[in-house]
Amino acid sequence: MAVVGYAMKRITVLGATGSIGCSTADVMLRYPDKFSAFALVGHRNVSKMIELATELHPEWVVMTDSAAAKQLEGQLPAGVRLEKGMDAAIALSSATETDIVMAAMVGSAGLPATLAAVQAGKRVGLANKECLVTAGHIFMKAAALSEAEVVPVDSEHAALHQCMQGQDRGSVTGVTLTASGGPFRDRDPSTLSAVTPAEAVAHPNWDMGAKISIDSATMINKALELIEARWLFDLAPEKLSAIIHPESIVHAMVEYQDGSVLAQLAMPDMRMPIAYALQAEPRLSTGIAPLDLAQTGTLTFQAVDHQRFPAMRLVQHVLRGEDSLAIAFNAANEVANAAFREQRIGFMDIVKTVEQVLSKVENVPVGSLDEVWLHDGHARKMADEVMTV
Ligand SMILES: NC(=O)c1ccc[n+]([C@@H]2O[C@H](COP(=O)([O-])OP(=O)(O)OC[C@H]3O[C@@H](n4cnc5c(N)ncnc54)[C@H](OP(=O)(O)O)[C@@H]3O)[C@@H](O)[C@H]2O)c1
Repeated sequence: MAVVGYAMKRITVLGATGSIGCSTADVMLRYPDKFSAFALVGHRNVSKMIELATELHPEWVVMTDSAAAKQLEGQLPAGVRLEKGMDAAIALSSATETDIVMAAMVGSAGLPATLAAVQAGKRVGLANKECLVTAGHIFMKAAALSEAEVVPVDSEHAALHQCMQGQDRGSVTGVTLTASGGPFRDRDPSTLSAVTPAEAVAHPNWDMGAKISIDSATMINKALELIEARWLFDLAPEKLSAIIHPESIVHAMVEYQDGSVLAQLAMPDMRMPIAYALQAEPRLSTGIAPLDLAQTGTLTFQAVDHQRFPAMRLVQHVLRGEDSLAIAFNAANEVANAAFREQRIGFMDIVKTVEQVLSKVENVPVGSLDEVWLHDGHARKMADEVMTV
């Protein structure tokens, strides 16, 4: 892997105002001699953007929501220029001045700007798994063409990336992603239909945005991550698995044909994979708590129960199907996840909606972005219909 040099790197953060965006700012602020903010892109969170712009002093701020951009007018520090809309995000993430893009918008909304960065050959720290789930084929093909370095930020994939460094990919016999099991790992399944969004968002180990927290509670997050791993590491579905690991200390494991298993361990703190994506060598100090295994005492593992987490059964079908299934899986989940947060459906209805949409969509390859959006829109409409029945 090419080493990011010691010269100052200019960073564009997509989804700057979110959980990953703020952790990225934390890492950048530790290294003002290495990283500067070229552009910060948010959607609606104006007060967080003012805070970030004051700390990082970027050249550009973009709010993809026009009303939020209007509200921000006149409130940015002197010299920080303001733009609005996704087109501005696309232009800045692919601009010559950007060296590294942190792709941390949530959902498939992040696809256009992240893909633009990939097509422009940037180093891309990829937190936004939904864009790879939605357009993995197109995305990885673009990265190969432009020689963009896509470095995963999802902790499990960052772990796999590290465990595969300097190894022969052909000798990999399997990879295992760990999953905490979320807040409902041990809860009586008969009580799950009554859980509230606040309970589902309260993840035991990770402090994350609302959508991914709920995806963790349904384990759709792990399902999305299996699809993400398939594209990032070009792995056949039978080589991909997940295991419950409540302590979230071991992030992933790679098994080689000689029987050796390499694992990566760290305290659950996203600043570790973020720092690795910004600069892998030499490693950066992140301020995360040191791992004290004597203090942790025990690391436990258990098989994923597909009865409790039906999303993990559904994804087996998606992994073996064509692109349209992954697009529908993601789109239906985005719609159902939002509906649950708005208390329009119950917790158990999220995966049920995804399952019903999957049972209705075509199973076909998808070759262009236009087609991606066609399938995505179709699945969203179907999810809305399923939820209103
Ligand atoms: N958080 C984690 O620990 C973690 C770990 C692994 C992977 N990830 C992945 O990283 C991504 C971000 O997660 P997060 O937890 O940081 O989410 P988050 O806290 O909800 O932040 C989401 C970011 O995306 C922006 N955004 C929301 N809707 C948008 C839209 N329609 N168009 C453009 N931007 C939009 C938000 O802007 P405003 O807030 O300004 O509206 C915010 O900056 C997700 O794909 C998630 O799966 C997160």
